[in-house]
Amino acid sequence: MVLKDLGTADWWRQAVVYQIYPRSFADSNGDGIGDLPGITSRVPYLRELGIDAVWLSPFYPSELADGGYDVADYRNVDPRLGTLEDFDAMSAALHDAGIKLIVDIVPNHTSDQHEWFQAAVAAGRGSHERDRYHFFEGKGENGEEPPNDWLSHFGGPAWHRVTEPDGTPGQWYLHMFAKEQPDLNWERDDVRADFEHTLRFWSDRGVDGFRIDVAHYLRKDLSEPFAPYAEVGATELQLYPNHPYMDRDDVHEIYRAWRKVFNEYQPPRTAVAEAWVHKSRLAAYASPDGLGQAFNFDLLVSEFDGKEFKAIIDDNLRQAAETGSSSTWVLSNHDVVRHATRYGLPRGYGEHADPWTLAGGSHDDVDTESGELRARAATLLMLALPGSTYLYQGEELGLHEVGDIPAADRQDPTFFRTEGKEIGRDGCRVPIPWATSGPSFGFGTGSAHLPQPSWFGGYSVDAEDDDPTSTLNLYRAALRVRADVETDESLTWLEHESPEVLAFERPNGWRSITNFGTDPVELPAGEILLTSTEIEGRTLPGNATAWLR
Ligand code: GLC
Ligand code: CA
Repeated sequence: MVLKDLGTADWWRQAVVYQIYPRSFADSNGDGIGDLPGITSRVPYLRELGIDAVWLSPFYPSELADGGYDVADYRNVDPRLGTLEDFDAMSAALHDAGIKLIVDIVPNHTSDQHEWFQAAVAAGRGSHERDRYHFFEGKGENGEEPPNDWLSHFGGPAWHRVTEPDGTPGQWYLHMFAKEQPDLNWERDDVRADFEHTLRFWSDRGVDGFRIDVAHYLRKDLSEPFAPYAEVGATELQLYPNHPYMDRDDVHEIYRAWRKVFNEYQPPRTAVAEAWVHKSRLAAYASPDGLGQAFNFDLLVSEFDGKEFKAIIDDNLRQAAETGSSSTWVLSNHDVVRHATRYGLPRGYGEHADPWTLAGGSHDDVDTESGELRARAATLLMLALPGSTYLYQGEELGLHEVGDIPAADRQDPTFFRTEGKEIGRDGCRVPIPWATSGPSFGFGTGSAHLPQPSWFGGYSVDAEDDDPTSTLNLYRAALRVRADVETDESLTWLEHESPEVLAFERPNGWRSITNFGTDPVELPAGEILLTSTEIEGRTLPGNATAWLR
């Protein structure tokens, strides 16, 4: 089988999926906000890059309390980003270029601007409308205390109090994320029916697959007494029996129903779960009668370390074999510090979700050069692995996280809800540079909605396009090689005398060799297909990967 086999129902198994954060990709009308016509105009770029599919982060009408993950209308396009006609034009352009389209579905919560939530507040206590969310009376003499001590994922309490229609302080509703993102009640049949309607709506418009936002949060058991947050919230990945708000067994019932919807289409629509759960619980999300695939975020939280990488790869290939799904590899996305920067941070941040905050969040704390070398080496290793790979816009430019965003320009609710203790995720969401200069480095004709630093021009598409040693041309070359390889989903580890080297082989002699150390090593015999950095003779320096055959 050829890796790039997009004509079959299994196209997703080893696809290279490129994540677009629409507001920060390309701005067609100069208002500072990336939009759908902007994406359409860049389809030739995506085709030349050689990706198989695009995953679009939310482009739906939204107040942008959480970068679009607060959806006000699931079956429409935010007017700032375009129209449904623009969506169709973008989808057609992608499909004409042989690129599949995946969209983001956000089922755990709506925006507080969604008509359901507005109706819930207006309808008052005990109403059918309120029952679509999780409304509770507060504690304390006058209900002035939240129903329990649970905390929101973005900091602060997970409950917010509404004002009743008669003007008095009223009930509290649950929001596991920002207060503008009320959690839905998934026990309601109309909630379930409406999301199935949404899945069909986009599938009918030609969407090939879905990325399911916080797929592990939908079902809740909010019966009292509530377990204290110290127990249930201690860590995202903990194993807590019958957890009240995440990774509950009954969530899979929803996905079994969705699978039936996906299978109404030819080829069946695909889905990938974003589920930050304990690794022993991930397989259920990836099961063929459920969503079919789940993100493995292990590389996102790992340092550049051969032993860690090997354990992660073994573990995830084993899990994929158990479910019949394929593995998913991710080094960067819109929620984490870009990997070129992570790998340039001082070692020892371990599993901290935001090493950037720990390191002070300044560009000066980063060894940018080593970070980039390691990022290129890790990317080449990842692209040689069996399974599908998710790339995040800008990583193909070797782009770094932006640290110096003034507080007044920040947008991430994490920054505000932690009173700046956590810098948040804006630094990886800065509009990407297309040109070496200009008002927003070619992103648009006006200034960008998040400020771009002066060094951005050096990482622009124009700067890297003609440079054979650029990260952009490395990604292009890697995707070309990958597209031609005849292979299956197996991997064999190869022995190497250096403990710092990780080497493996795929069928037909395709080999990947990564030197995680600092001492150079000699490459074994074979044709050198590609190297992550320039090499002399057959000597592979530290922080580098070579592909051989
Ligand atoms: C997911 C998204 C993240 C968002 C959150 C709430 O983790 O990736 O960006 O803030 O869900 O929807
Ligand atoms: Ca725009």
